[in-house]
Amino acid sequence: RTLDWNPGQVEKQGFRHYMLKEIHEQPGVVRSSLETYLNPNWHVSENPDFSPINLGLSSQLYENTDYIQIVACGTSWHASLIGKYLLEQLAGIPTTVDYASEYRYSPKPVIPKTLTIGVTQSGETADTIAALEMERARRSKLDSKFQAQLLAITNRPESTIGQICNHIINTQAGIEIGVAATKTFIAQVLGFYYLALDLAYHRKTLSNERISEIIEGLHHIPDSIEKTLETQDKAIEELAHNFTQETEDFIFIGRGINFPIALEGALKLKEISYIHAEAYPAGEMKHGPIALLDHKVPVVAVAMPGSVYEKVISNAQEAKARDARLIGVTSAMNSQEAAHTFNDLLTVPEVEELLSPILAVIPLQLLSYHIAAIKGLDVDQPRNLAKSVTVE
Ligand code: G6P
Repeated sequence: RTLDWNPGQVEKQGFRHYMLKEIHEQPGVVRSSLETYLNPNWHVSENPDFSPINLGLSSQLYENTDYIQIVACGTSWHASLIGKYLLEQLAGIPTTVDYASEYRYSPKPVIPKTLTIGVTQSGETADTIAALEMERARRSKLDSKFQAQLLAITNRPESTIGQICNHIINTQAGIEIGVAATKTFIAQVLGFYYLALDLAYHRKTLSNERISEIIEGLHHIPDSIEKTLETQDKAIEELAHNFTQETEDFIFIGRGINFPIALEGALKLKEISYIHAEAYPAGEMKHGPIALLDHKVPVVAVAMPGSVYEKVISNAQEAKARDARLIGVTSAMNSQEAAHTFNDLLTVPEVEELLSPILAVIPLQLLSYHIAAIKGLDVDQPRNLAKSVTVE
């Protein structure tokens, strides 16, 4: 008797595609990241030099950073936008995010005490490397307070970016094979939570009680992702059937910390489903994109409970008034109320707004995956795309 198997299937551990496997690996990725970077022995009352976060950054960096600039491409750029929100709101440090391909040809004026962060899963993206090299070279000619402090957030610390930067946050999500980034995205986002919390701790911009509350929330994330996958996967697959024939355009909206999630949802859909999708901060809808809406253009609203929830709901209702099919990503806590607004609901467990992007992205990954899979597309190797773009 012989077993009927093929090696590719074994590596996919029974999942139809690597992307689906990688989506399902996310609870484990978060768990092991939290184990690595959160200090289990930290307590609220402890001595000020003992950080709740184990990033191993030098104390000089905490004192020497008045401004942060981030460069990245693609999905890493979206993670960086969440990073900007966290660094500004938690650590109080003004932060800008640029596409590396733009930054390399139009750098910012040189500001002293700047931390430059390159975010790249592969560590080999040509534009990101060039932007960091340019930054290092131009600062090396100036006096000491202008010297480059370079930090890489990468899944490949041994890569080119790892050689260029003097600090590294290793996202350690494991090898990602699907071209569309999923598990490495949330690992990068976690890297930003750690960095923002570590800076906030050393610069005393957050109370220890608040830090402890956020850490507690992070510990719930792996179970909440698991629950999202369990409860939503089938439902989203069913929903996906509605968009595989005639749908040519999608609009994604979100606000605040979840605007980057709208961008990421739209990018995933373009990358693997080949459906045109655009994302807007929900409040910008009225300044143009609303003209596109009719019954043929579904609108996905990332409507996580928190400071801008009511605003997103009212923006979504404006879309509904133009006959758009409205899909809401929200927390189970709000689902009854949200059911009045949305035609379809993708729900995640209750979570505080600050941590909500990590959960909100999961249903959007599944939505793009299922649309592409039903269309019979090459999910793991979409046309015209490469996992890592090492040329300009
Ligand atoms: C390519 C990939 C994207 C990725 C981007 C940046 O375009 O297809 O999925 O987000 O590169 O890659 P990096 O390795 O720098 O994060």
